[in-house]
Amino acid sequence: MSMKNKPISDQVALVTGGGTGIGRAFTEALATAGARVVIASRREEVLRDTAEELNLKLGAARVFPYAFDIRERLLIDGLVRHLIEQHGALDILINNSGLAVPEMADEITEAGWDRVMDTNLRGVMQLVRAALPVMIANEFGDIVNVSSKAGKHGYADVPSYCASKFGLLGYAEALRDHVRKANANIRVFNLCPGLVDVENSAVGAEPKPGFIHVSNMARSLMYALSLDREVVLEDLNLYAR
Ligand SMILES: NC(=O)c1ccc[n+]([C@@H]2O[C@H](COP(=O)([O-])OP(=O)(O)OC[C@H]3O[C@@H](n4cnc5c(N)ncnc54)[C@H](OP(=O)(O)O)[C@@H]3O)[C@@H](O)[C@H]2O)c1
Repeated sequence: MSMKNKPISDQVALVTGGGTGIGRAFTEALATAGARVVIASRREEVLRDTAEELNLKLGAARVFPYAFDIRERLLIDGLVRHLIEQHGALDILINNSGLAVPEMADEITEAGWDRVMDTNLRGVMQLVRAALPVMIANEFGDIVNVSSKAGKHGYADVPSYCASKFGLLGYAEALRDHVRKANANIRVFNLCPGLVDVENSAVGAEPKPGFIHVSNMARSLMYALSLDREVVLEDLNLYAR
């Protein structure tokens, strides 16, 4: 029996960190395809400006800001409740929020380690735990994790970041096994980019040497979402040659 499907234009997406950088590019691509997109992170003003700019560009109100901190469980629960009450669904969850604290292995601090792990790993776990029942009840969902090339290779200047992004891939694999065993129509895939130029993001702008243009992230997302629901896509690894 084929799995339930929905056109993107009927879907509701949540992009954490959707106000800036890669998350903003995801948001624009999803909203351009007709989805309603809630963008969520800590800085309300940044989110509001991005939503206003994209809605103006699209000539439609499709992007909605929501301020929260992914490290706070109560705020996560509030965000998922908000999605259901205001938008009626949560079809695509993009775990894009993330940060690095550059501290070498011999000088690493507990505070730096915790900040990275709480944001990049624990936060994702908490948000997925809150979102899963909604997706299972709706018999539909996609969970996209933004890991990194640093989730597959180690770099001496960011050991905590590497640990968090490697960890995210391990978590995603367990999650994929969970939804398969639950026979849930939920796909889980990871994007693992190398350096992405989030400054030169205009269409046609030349990325810095060693970086890829951010539009490649948006196109990778839309490609992965376009695959048949029976297809398991695990990771997309992309970086400048
Ligand atoms: N750019 C690259 O070269 C590159 C390469 C590989 C992977 N990545 C990954 O791609 C993702 C996006 O990064 P980016 O390059 O687009 O950088 P960015 O613009 O700094 O995006 C990070 C986003 O995370 C949000 N965030 C940080 N802490 C948060 C918290 N506690 N709660 C909620 N949101 C939080 C930030 O918003 P607020 O400050 O408003 O909270 C921001 O919008 C990250 O996971 C990053 O690790 C980036």
